[in-house]
Formats: sequence, C-alpha cells, structure tokens
Amino acid sequence: MYKPQPTADGSVTFYSDTFGESFHSRYGANQEAESKFVAPTQIARKATGKTLSLLDICYGLGYNSAVALDTIWTVNPECQVEWVGLELDRAVCEAAIEYNIFESRSSRVREIVSEIATGRPVNCDRFSGKLLLGDARETIATVLNSGFRAEAIFLDPFSPQRCPQLWTVEFLQQVANILTPSGRLATYSCAAAVRSALQLVGLNIGTIAPVGRRWPGTVASFSSIDLPPLTEKERQHLQTRAAIPYRDRTLRDDATTIIKRRAEEVETSTLESTTQWKRRWPN
Ligand SMILES: C[S@@+](CC[C@H](N)C(=O)[O-])C[C@H]1O[C@@H](n2cnc3c(N)ncnc32)[C@H](O)[C@@H]1O
Repeated sequence: MYKPQPTADGSVTFYSDTFGESFHSRYGANQEAESKFVAPTQIARKATGKTLSLLDICYGLGYNSAVALDTIWTVNPECQVEWVGLELDRAVCEAAIEYNIFESRSSRVREIVSEIATGRPVNCDRFSGKLLLGDARETIATVLNSGFRAEAIFLDPFSPQRCPQLWTVEFLQQVANILTPSGRLATYSCAAAVRSALQLVGLNIGTIAPVGRRWPGTVASFSSIDLPPLTEKERQHLQTRAAIPYRDRTLRDDATTIIKRRAEEVETSTLESTTQWKRRWPN
C-alpha cells in the first residue's frame, strides 16, 4: 500500500492516497525530523538529564522519534526515555520497517522502532514506550489520564487543509495539557490558524528558521525563555483572517465540517484580509 519515494536528502517517504499528501517535504524526511522537530525541542540539551519524556503525535514512519532517540543516546547513553506515540494507521510504521528505511540508524534505535511497529508496549534498556493506535483526538485522553507529561512534543499531522481535526483549538488544548511547564512543542506548520490556536491554549510561540525549504516551522512553550521571536511579518500575519483557528468542540467532527465552519467565520470576519497582508509583505 505504501511505497518508498525518494527525497532530496536521500531518505525516503511515503505518499498517502487517503489524505492526498506526502508524509514529508520533498527536501528530506531526515532533514525535516532534525530541523523541524528534534533541534527546536532542544532534545540534545534535555538529554543531559536522567530522564526525558517524549510525545510523538502522528508517529507515521517514525522518523522524528528515531532521530530523537539517536540524538539523546549520543549525548547521554544513560538517559532513560519515557515515550508515547499516537498514530491512526499501523500499516505506515509496518511498511517503514518492511522497507528497512532506518538502515543508517543505530542498532538500538532500529530494534526499538521495529518493536514499536508491533503495537505492543516496549520496555528495554533505557526505553519505555507505547504506540497508541487510533484517532489522536481519542487516544490523547488516554495519555492525559495516565498522568504522562512530556518535556518534548512532536506535532506532525498532515496539513490543516487535509487534516484539520488535529489542528483545532480543542485538540491543541489537550496536547498543551500534557506539556510540562518547561517543555517544548514543535511543528513544521507556520499557518497563522495553527499559531493562533497554540496561543489561545496559553502557549508562547517562536519561529523555526527554514532549513532547505521555504517556510519556517513553529515552536511553542509555556516558558518564553529562548524562544526564537517571530518576525514582524509573522506577527502581522496573526492579525489577519488567516489566524482564525479551526474549531471542533466535541472533538468528533469530520474534516469537511471543521473546514466549512472556519470558512464561514473567515467570510464574515472584519479582520484584515490575508491578501492585503501579502501586498505589504510581498517576499
Ligand atoms: C505527516 S505524517 C507523519 C510523519 C511522521 N511523523 C514521520 O516522522 O514519519 C501524518 C501521520 O498522521 C497520521 N494520522 C492521520 N490522521 C490521524 C489521526 N486522526 N490520529 C492519529 N494519527 C493520524 C497518518 O496516518 C500519518 O502517519
């Protein structure tokens, strides 16, 4: 069902027929994991502690966690990792193992991602984790109720146009409830609707400079310490209609309903249009 497709950095990704989107940017799956998720959440710095807790939302092929784990144990081989992953479709992680996409990773990480793909809890040397299968809007409640709290959260759904369910204020509120006061959340998206939702749930946001691609990502935390500030252009983007967030009060609506609800709000909004903003910031 999923077939490897090459990206510019030599790593492979898959394409989803269901969502009509690639799992990674064409610039590279490995590069994206490193520059959009692992570096902005300061995994290397956090790994100097005794333990590190990590929540990987939309685990997919597993790149973000695989790169994070190798980074952690390169810095501190003794670090105990407490890990939770959320994923709808186990076939994705199974296919990643079948195609041996983690050939270049350490043997320890290769073993762990193979175990994760079975869907069974994984408890081995310095690693304890479980992949929760199903709609993340439901499994996130299980994580919250278990008392698990994360120092780093990777938020990697398909784009808001394809998968608005996982970018709503209500879902991000659940995610924020799992983040520790000093923790960091990172996502590849710089959509104003996503950034404003993160702010609405009480997080400070910063920009992740684009590496090898056009758009920046977003890093969020309850603490504003060391967050790379948004540019003036990005700040002004948050004053436009583009910043009207997605809503899903019951956490059960389908994509079409969520998109339609937001479109209606955009339509009647008195905020500046995104076209006007773009005219002021053509580049
Ligand atoms: C952009 S890909 C993630 C790539 C992944 N982080 C990686 O490193 O390979 C998005 C993932 O979200 C999953 N997904 C889509 N809808 C979901 C939902 N409602 N709950 C949980 N996972 C979902 C898809 O199956 C897909 O694996």
